[in-house]
Amino acid sequence: MKGTMRKKIVVTGSNGQLGSELRAIDRAGRYRAGYEFVFTDVAELDITDAVAVQAFVGHERPQWIVNAAAYTAVDRAESDAERAELLNATAVRNLVSAAEAVGAGFVQVSTDYVFDGLRPADEHALTEEEPTGPQSVYGRTKLAGEAAALAYDRSFVVRTAWLYSTYGNNFVKTMLRLGAERSELGVVADQWGTPTYARDLAAAIMEMVVFADEHPDAAGFGLYHYTNGGRTNWCEFAQEIMRLGGRNCAVRAITTAEYPAAAARPAWSVLSTERIRATFGALVPDWRESLAECISTLDVLG
Ligand SMILES: NC(=O)c1ccc[n+]([C@@H]2O[C@H](COP(=O)([O-])OP(=O)(O)OC[C@H]3O[C@@H](n4cnc5c(N)ncnc54)[C@H](OP(=O)(O)O)[C@@H]3O)[C@@H](O)[C@H]2O)c1
Repeated sequence: MKGTMRKKIVVTGSNGQLGSELRAIDRAGRYRAGYEFVFTDVAELDITDAVAVQAFVGHERPQWIVNAAAYTAVDRAESDAERAELLNATAVRNLVSAAEAVGAGFVQVSTDYVFDGLRPADEHALTEEEPTGPQSVYGRTKLAGEAAALAYDRSFVVRTAWLYSTYGNNFVKTMLRLGAERSELGVVADQWGTPTYARDLAAAIMEMVVFADEHPDAAGFGLYHYTNGGRTNWCEFAQEIMRLGGRNCAVRAITTAEYPAAAARPAWSVLSTERIRATFGALVPDWRESLAECISTLDVLG
């Protein structure tokens, strides 16, 4: 196939967890016949710079922009709201207006922290229709980013949760490190959700992109939830990490009140993935299965 026939995907924030997984997908070559990736991070494309974003996108003229950049330091955001707003909301508007100018599809990634997290009596998984009510600066700014993306009719917004990978810093790596240093640890057991391997999220995003390209009149643009399957709490998640990582560290349950943090977290943010599975056939492996897969490829074990 001629190179010019390939569709171009500009990825922002591609040194992060999700961006690194998209790089890995590109390296694996599965989409090489149909897609050409242009990976950027802040050094190549600062998404807060509206002029630079317009110029870059105008020059590349991609068919897709996938925004994997964000202000993800949830606690720091509480005292750095201006920067969080700039990166999570204003910069999304920059990307949307650049995407619109060249007719590109746009993928924005959001978070379960847009919900208030009050535990429903029937403990149902939250659908895309559930009312939002962010409790933190991070959640509020990400919700504003969703609105900016959804104002454009060629956007996907994918809410995910508890993201981890072999790249960057995340809960899995922190637990493996602490598990090697300590024999006992307290982890909160009253916040419920579902961990998500960034590799699975990256794969789901590619399924959506391909689907939209193959069904231009019924692309399915709009809001979706994607996490791994099942539900757990941070304590049980940590216990499973220790077990799979061969760490001899007892993880004991504590309450949120015993572990003060600057930003409030939802107590209940189990997301329903029904819509993304029904629309695109996205694969949703169980969280334990994906965690085992990730830990088996990490080289920090021992
Ligand atoms: N991590 C989670 O648990 C979680 C949960 C739910 C939803 N999400 C969402 O999932 C998405 C991906 O998260 P992630 O964990 O992959 O994020 P991440 O690892 O923090 O990566 C974000 C990337 O964006 C880059 N970046 C920062 N400022 C930038 C700028 N001005 N222009 C361009 N790039 C910039 C960062 O660079 P620096 O590192 O140099 O700042 C980093 O490489 C985000 O939308 C996040 O909100 C994450």
